[in-house]
Amino acid sequence: MIRQTSIFAGTALAIALAGLLPAELQAAGDPQSGKEKAQVCEACHGATGESVDPSYPNLAGQHESYLVKALSDYRSGARDNAIMKGFAGSLSNQDIEDLAAWYANQDGLKDLSIK
Ligand code: HEC
Repeated sequence: MIRQTSIFAGTALAIALAGLLPAELQAAGDPQSGKEKAQVCEACHGATGESVDPSYPNLAGQHESYLVKALSDYRSGARDNAIMKGFAGSLSNQDIEDLAAWYANQDGLKDLSIK
């Protein structure tokens, strides 16, 4: 009886961990928080990442990991652009994750049937 209980507890723990871990690993960004932080980006990239002018890239539906990398590179200077350096320079890691989650969750590029 004791043995069965511990096997059950162990299984329950494994299931709980399996449910938690992937979310922990993949989605550090919070899209709703990103939406608020994206207000300052709206003038060029549009409210949902569909840009207002061809000189500004579309961000809607872009891969989250790509957006994180682009913003991190502007911040560090590895990607050199005077405009984006100004906007990315003061972002925290959490800001970058949240903004990337927001744009990645919008329709747009992800509607393209590119596999
Ligand atoms: C004044 C206009 C302007 C504002 C405001 C602005 N950006 Fe940009 N953004 C640009 C331009 C121009 C580029 C292209 C720069 C380049 O050539 O690398 C760009 C590029 C980017 C890229 C790279 C896209 C790609 O396809 O590689 C990301 C990501 C990005 N911006 C996110 C943001 C975020 C997040 C904010 C708000 C915190 C923001 N931008 C605010 C003009 C702007």
